[in-house]
Amino acid sequence: MTALDSTAAESARSKPITVPPFAVIPGAQVQQVLKGRENQIVELVEAAYRLHGAGDSVNPPSYFLRFPDRPSARIIALPASIGGQFRVDGLKWISSLPENVAAGIPRASAVLILNDHDTGYPFACLESSIISATRTAASAALAADWLSRGRERPARVGFFGVGLIARYIHTFLAGTGWSFDEIGVHDLSADSAAGFRGYLEKSGTASRITVHDSAGQLIRSSDLVVFATIATQPHVSDLSWFEHDPLVLHVSLRDLAPEIVLASANIVDDVEHCLKANTSPHLAEQLTGNRNFLHGTLDDVMAGRVTLPADRPVVFSPFGLGVLDLAVGKYVYDEVVRSGELLIIDEFFHELRRHG
Ligand SMILES: NC(=O)c1ccc[n+]([C@@H]2O[C@H](COP(=O)([O-])OP(=O)(O)OC[C@H]3O[C@@H](n4cnc5c(N)ncnc54)[C@H](O)[C@@H]3O)[C@@H](O)[C@H]2O)c1
Repeated sequence: MTALDSTAAESARSKPITVPPFAVIPGAQVQQVLKGRENQIVELVEAAYRLHGAGDSVNPPSYFLRFPDRPSARIIALPASIGGQFRVDGLKWISSLPENVAAGIPRASAVLILNDHDTGYPFACLESSIISATRTAASAALAADWLSRGRERPARVGFFGVGLIARYIHTFLAGTGWSFDEIGVHDLSADSAAGFRGYLEKSGTASRITVHDSAGQLIRSSDLVVFATIATQPHVSDLSWFEHDPLVLHVSLRDLAPEIVLASANIVDDVEHCLKANTSPHLAEQLTGNRNFLHGTLDDVMAGRVTLPADRPVVFSPFGLGVLDLAVGKYVYDEVVRSGELLIIDEFFHELRRHG
């Protein structure tokens, strides 16, 4: 324990242990806190990755709840604990129903529960689809920055699958200083492509926007490719589309055939997490029986433990870690407390005397 740690621990011990009040933070408050703070959120996410890499976290495998009568639906539980400046435990509970989109509502919905480090009591329930999209986009922007160092900075970006996550990723790239000569768009749904194009135009981008009907054309004409589809199995297998060695943010995890993974330098957020649930890297492991195709984690790159070869595509596959939701969620909570607008549910915990 460092001197600083022991002082912090001492002050925590000297605080009386009490049940914290329970708060609810609606999406409107979450959005108000996060809007326009892209650089700050990317820094938080970087700090969370570094703490996780240093072992100051607990992040067990996500649990996927699936339903025999609704095969496309799932609800995922992401329990986690993170130390450092965050010092909080909790759980994200996020459901995905792809059919929602046809009804005009987002695919994913979520809550995040924060638990008090000292008593274990839950002290907040936050609307978390925004937090989840935000941490995903911040992680993508962080990866785009670190993984493009030492190569020519991409000037042409291609978005492959353009729903809510693609929109957040574009916002984070733009908000952290990226500008592109060209933005390519490809989606199976013409409505999605048109909606995303409309968003880009409203965002005031100066980039030339092209909607590509062909997947190969999009990839060939992009130096940075962002996959954010809902594909459940690989649909991109033509190696020749990647001859120009693009940087690929493989956020939707299951688009690339193992052959593409094996021909690339692969960076993940967490090895054990990512090599599960039939992600493309997991399929590559199943095909080869080894993990030699993995170069390391984003934390390895940030810490200088791994350097990337310049002669092949670089693929970042982030499984999505619960510690990132906690880091962003705790930041939102602290900011809402600071604003004096925390919505406390009085007497939420009501049975507080053990013997009545
Ligand atoms: N890795 C992470 O941390 C992380 C976090 C959040 C979301 N995600 C993933 O991001 C993905 C996108 O989420 P969203 O909320 O934006 O979904 P969405 O439903 O809003 O958008 C997905 C889009 O992809 C398109 N699409 C589906 N299959 C396609 C294909 N084969 N080719 C081209 N386009 C295709 C759909 O038409 C749709 O427009 C999901 O797979 C989700 O699981 C990953």
